[in-house]
Amino acid sequence: MKQPLTDPFARAIRYLRVSVTDRCDFRCDYCMVEDMQFLPRADLLSLEELDRLCSTFIRLGVQKLRITGGEPLVRRNIMAFFRAMQRHLASGALQELTLTTNGSQLGKYAAELAECGVKRVNVSLDTLDAAKFAAITRRGRLDQVLAGIKAATDAGLRVKINAVALKGVNEDELFPLVEWCAAQGHDLTFIEVMPMGDNGALDRYWPLTDLAARLASRFTLTELAERSGGPARYVRLEQTGQKIGLITPLTHNFCESCNRVRLTCTGQLFMCLGQEDSADLRAPLRASPSDAGLETAIRAAIARKPKGHDFDYSRQQVTGRMSRPMSHTGG
Ligand code: GTP
Ligand code: 5AD
Ligand code: SF4
Repeated sequence: MKQPLTDPFARAIRYLRVSVTDRCDFRCDYCMVEDMQFLPRADLLSLEELDRLCSTFIRLGVQKLRITGGEPLVRRNIMAFFRAMQRHLASGALQELTLTTNGSQLGKYAAELAECGVKRVNVSLDTLDAAKFAAITRRGRLDQVLAGIKAATDAGLRVKINAVALKGVNEDELFPLVEWCAAQGHDLTFIEVMPMGDNGALDRYWPLTDLAARLASRFTLTELAERSGGPARYVRLEQTGQKIGLITPLTHNFCESCNRVRLTCTGQLFMCLGQEDSADLRAPLRASPSDAGLETAIRAAIARKPKGHDFDYSRQQVTGRMSRPMSHTGG
């Protein structure tokens, strides 16, 4: 197996998250402001440039590629990019090609994604209540997303539902969400809301320690040792056999096992979701048709990967807030 990129804390970097656009057809209120200003299209890397960047990371040992946004499926001609990445699956260099989506375009693209070698998708869905869904996403329609999820399942894709735990918003839907996922055969992961942009995170922060305690009031929970290569810890609900993921940047920091970096649609590499430092990969990418300079820039960036984020809501105050919204780096 290829020697992986390794950071100063001896963490192997095997997972690249690529935000292919900062645009989105929704405006989830914990993610974006209503009148979000998007980047001019001219600033975006072309799909060919993104291909070159991803291929270089794969050559340097990245094995898992997650395409994110904004909403990745609103980027024009994005299927050409998925089709191109398939060659790395075929060669065995890439073990997983996947995406995180709001589900609105899955009805259109699920079958094609499956043809490109995608095996599972993560779909953001915080509520099963149509009115609440419309309020949170400001633009989204629940029926369209549910139809997209069904199209994904019909195409043979595994679906993982990501639900951001929001105090006073979806607290009352904990059991309905768990039951719906069990009935549909979807995995389910809850996420603590992170202070990205000006998203009023603390007002709606629902610690997953509380959520897990509520789950334990109805189900017997067993902690599982396994990890998916992502940040979630898992518990099993013994009564349903379901595995529930818990992503807890606030209550249980998982940075010590971090294996990932994030590329934006303009070619900035963020070494940590919860730090401002980034490295410009666009300049070395465009400086030469050879990838040597790009490889050097990537290695130099990985050598700067910080120990972790500083998100903290103690004493009813937020510290470690990032000025950029989540959509900039795709979560
Ligand atoms: P799996 O492969 O299914 O485990 O995916 P994943 O959890 O890596 O990806 P997904 O896009 O579904 O991310 C779910 C949530 O985890 C998002 O809200 C991300 O922001 C958050 N997340 C992912 N990686 C990190 C990380 O390194 N640090 C923090 N703080 N949050 C992360
Ligand atoms: N905190 C936690 N998760 C967030 N997401 C978007 N914004 C935030 C935030 N501030 C989630 C989305 C999606 C994933 C990529 O990140 O719901 O599931
Ligand atoms: Fe779009 Fe995802 Fe942000 Fe919602 S959380 S606005 S779906 S990028």
